[in-house]
Amino acid sequence: MKVLVTGGTGYIGSHTCIQLIEQGYTPVVIDNLCNSKEMVLDRIEQVTGVRPTFMQGDIRDSAFLKRVFAKHSIDSVIHFAGLKAVGESVEKPLKYYDNNVSGTLTLVSEMDLAGVKSLIFSSSATVYGDPASVPIKEDFPTSATNPYGRSKLMVEECLRDFQQANLDWSITLLRYFNPVGAHESGLLGEDPQGTPNNLLPFVAQVAVGRREKLGVFGNDYNTPDGTGVRDYIHVVDLADGHLAALDKMKHQPGTHIFNLGTGQGNSVLEMVHAFETAANRPIPYEIKPRRAGDIAECYADPTYAEAHLGWKATRDLQTMVEDTWRWQSQNPNGYQ
Ligand code: NAD
Ligand code: UFG
Repeated sequence: MKVLVTGGTGYIGSHTCIQLIEQGYTPVVIDNLCNSKEMVLDRIEQVTGVRPTFMQGDIRDSAFLKRVFAKHSIDSVIHFAGLKAVGESVEKPLKYYDNNVSGTLTLVSEMDLAGVKSLIFSSSATVYGDPASVPIKEDFPTSATNPYGRSKLMVEECLRDFQQANLDWSITLLRYFNPVGAHESGLLGEDPQGTPNNLLPFVAQVAVGRREKLGVFGNDYNTPDGTGVRDYIHVVDLADGHLAALDKMKHQPGTHIFNLGTGQGNSVLEMVHAFETAANRPIPYEIKPRRAGDIAECYADPTYAEAHLGWKATRDLQTMVEDTWRWQSQNPNGYQ
């Protein structure tokens, strides 16, 4: 079965390609390489023995997508391609609406023309805004606090409307919590360009000596140690969640929504200390003011996914930080 993977050379897409290949699927990767490198394909081949078919291009380019669907008989699409930097989205909102919203609309139009009716979309826990309580269930109210989050919410709503008008489609919205970790081989991982926005890549770069110290954004939240609490999920567990969604939902018309998280919250300082143990070295840090837009606590109620997809995260915090460290220490400058 051929699965089109948009954004397949990116962080989550590349790990999903490995799990797809290992479970007998044939991924066809498209990516414009705006935030990833073609070398990722070499690494996927090293791990699996299979080099995925790759076509470089943009999801906003309908002529390109027509060529992709004409060349390959695609059964389902897993759609990762998108921009994800919250801060940049505040400065350049139109770039985010164009890429994430228009790009998805173009993709869905071309799927429709090609008769491909099964889609899995990368959404985010950011669509819950500042939740009134935790753990977060799928039926909690949604809102957006920045253009990136609004682009995810807009796409969710567009897809829901589209599915209502096209009842034979299966659309699955996967709301990821905080993806971390790397492939256990140490060959694939997260390779942010410039200064990392997210906690674990920053910690990993401090550990490997690329940065002097971590800034901890606030220690006065109403949490056990005062620092922010998140639901960190291993990227390979997340990838497996996509396979479960593909397997269970492909032939189930409807709009399906699942949280992909572990259900466990960990604080910034817990993450720092876990990483210190994995890397066997201190991680210098200093307490800084809160980061604008951050919330105190965010973690999933993952029981709906377990009940309906037969999936749950299995990799613990220690595995997440050890795998991140293996990737970072073996590839101190990322994919070079
Ligand atoms: P990533 O940047 O590593 O991967 C995204 C890939 O999409 C990149 O390879 C990039 O080059 C490609 N891309 C972007 N715009 C494109 C376009 N117009 N046409 C073709 N390719 C394009 O990011 P990731 O962490 O792997 O995230 C994948 C998806 O998951 C994104 O949609 C992101 O918003 C979503 N998500 C990520 C997180 C996270 O913390 N990593 C959390 C929630 C949701
Ligand atoms: N943090 C620091 N210092 C840093 C970076 C982060 O203290 O240098 C803290 C944050 O304040 C927060 C926690 O670490 O308490 C996690 O921050 P991240 O930036 O790693 O993750 P967020 O939860 O802020 O955001 C992530 C993704 C978003 C997504 C959101 C919800 O980056 O795209 O999860 O899924 F929308």
